[in-house]
Formats: sequence, structure tokens, C-alpha cells
Amino acid sequence: MEGPPLTDLHTHILPGLDDGAASLDEAADMARAALEDGITRLAATPHSLRWAPGVDRAALEAKAQALMQSLAARGLGVTVVPGAEMALISSLPQQIDAGEAVTLNGSHYLLVELPFTGLPPRLEDILFQVRARGLVPILAHPERSTDLQRDLRLVHRLVERGLLLQVTAASLEGRFGAGPQGFSCRLLRERLVHVIASDAHDARDRRPRLTRAQAIAARIVGPEGALALVATNPARILDDLPLEIEPPRPARRWFWQRVVSA
Ligand SMILES: [Fe+2]
Repeated sequence: MEGPPLTDLHTHILPGLDDGAASLDEAADMARAALEDGITRLAATPHSLRWAPGVDRAALEAKAQALMQSLAARGLGVTVVPGAEMALISSLPQQIDAGEAVTLNGSHYLLVELPFTGLPPRLEDILFQVRARGLVPILAHPERSTDLQRDLRLVHRLVERGLLLQVTAASLEGRFGAGPQGFSCRLLRERLVHVIASDAHDARDRRPRLTRAQAIAARIVGPEGALALVATNPARILDDLPLEIEPPRPARRWFWQRVVSA
């Protein structure tokens, strides 16, 4: 795979913790698929609290380190850093206060899992409480939320107030159907996407792969913009650095609707 090294911000590669890799062998197959696609750094982001309540930040760090060493022993030179996909629940701010939240590679960026149907009540309040605690929520797969598909204004409002959005590569490829695919493209057009990640669960149909989605995104935001989504931005997030964000470009029709409904 030619090209700059890519960073995958969202994977379920840690074996035996959730519905991702079932074994070390499967994690190795995922790492091999990632390297074949040019991905050299992966964040392991299990559904930590929902699936394995006893697994805390220190345990995840140790597991990511141990996995990276096992992969290296198999000749797979991929960097694995710890993280988690935190459930978007009303007690998330309290989990942060209690030191139970696991950020991406110890940064101030927090990957937050959006439900596919039904947004939690007080969604904005929860997220802004997270923000007020000095963390930047990154919303995982907003394109797969039927509620957000119907409420683009809410998406704009969230981004205006400092949240980041991570679209799943397979959504752009059409794996989850026309709804998520079309909405992903719309989010890209309106410059509401900050990262494309694989959300890989295995080495088969939900494998770590970013280049196909990168090529699709390049047709919408240009090659440099697409590269930022799979390389620069995720790398800067894992290095706890600020992002250079292009301002959103709301569609004219959306402005018109806002004027009409105001
Ligand atoms: Fe995930």
C-alpha cells in the first residue's frame, strides 16, 4: 500500500472484551488487514463499560500494550493505543468525575457511542457537560442515527459548539444501506465530518479499511481533505493536539428552511 500512514481511531481489536475480535488470532488478522490498507496506528476502543464493567483505564492500557507486543512477535508492526467507545448515557459526566471515562490514548478526546435509534433525552446537555469538563466528545457514526438523519440542524449545532464527528468508513462504502451512505456524503459536503474510522469488528466484512472510504470522500472534499480525515486528524487526536477544522458549509436549502421556520 503506497501513501502516507493512516490512523484508525475506532476499532474493536482487543480480543475477548466485546463483540469485536474473539481471539488473538482474529486480532492478528485484523492487524494484517489494517497494514495491507496502509493503517499503521490503531486505537483499540472496546465498549468498555457496557460489555466488561470491570475493565478500567489501567486494564485497557495494559491490554493494548500486550496486544501490540503479541502482534509484533508475529511480525505485525502496528501501533495499538488504548481507548474506549463510551456509551452516551446521562451519567457520562459523573463517570468522568469518578475517573471512569477512558479517553483516546489518554488525550482530552473522548469517543462517544451514538445509538442507532432514539437519541437520549438531554443529549445536548450531556455532551456539553462533557465539554465543560475539558473533554472533546467525538461522536461515533452519526450517519447511522436515524434521528440525526432527520435533524441536520442538531448536527450543525453540535459541531458549532465544539463537538467532532466520526463517520464509519463502511457507511460511505454503502455497507449499511442508502440512508447512512447518503447522509455520510451530505455530512461531508457540509464539512461536518472530522474523522473517518473503520469501527472494525473482525477481519472479514467489518475489517479495518480506510482507503476505499478515503477515495469516496476525496470526490466530495478533495484529496487533501480526505487525507486529513484518515491520517492527519486522527493522528493529531491520538497525540492530543488541536485540529485545524474547516468551518461547516450549510447547504443553502438548510438556511432557507431555517429562515422559514424562524
Ligand atoms: Fe464501535
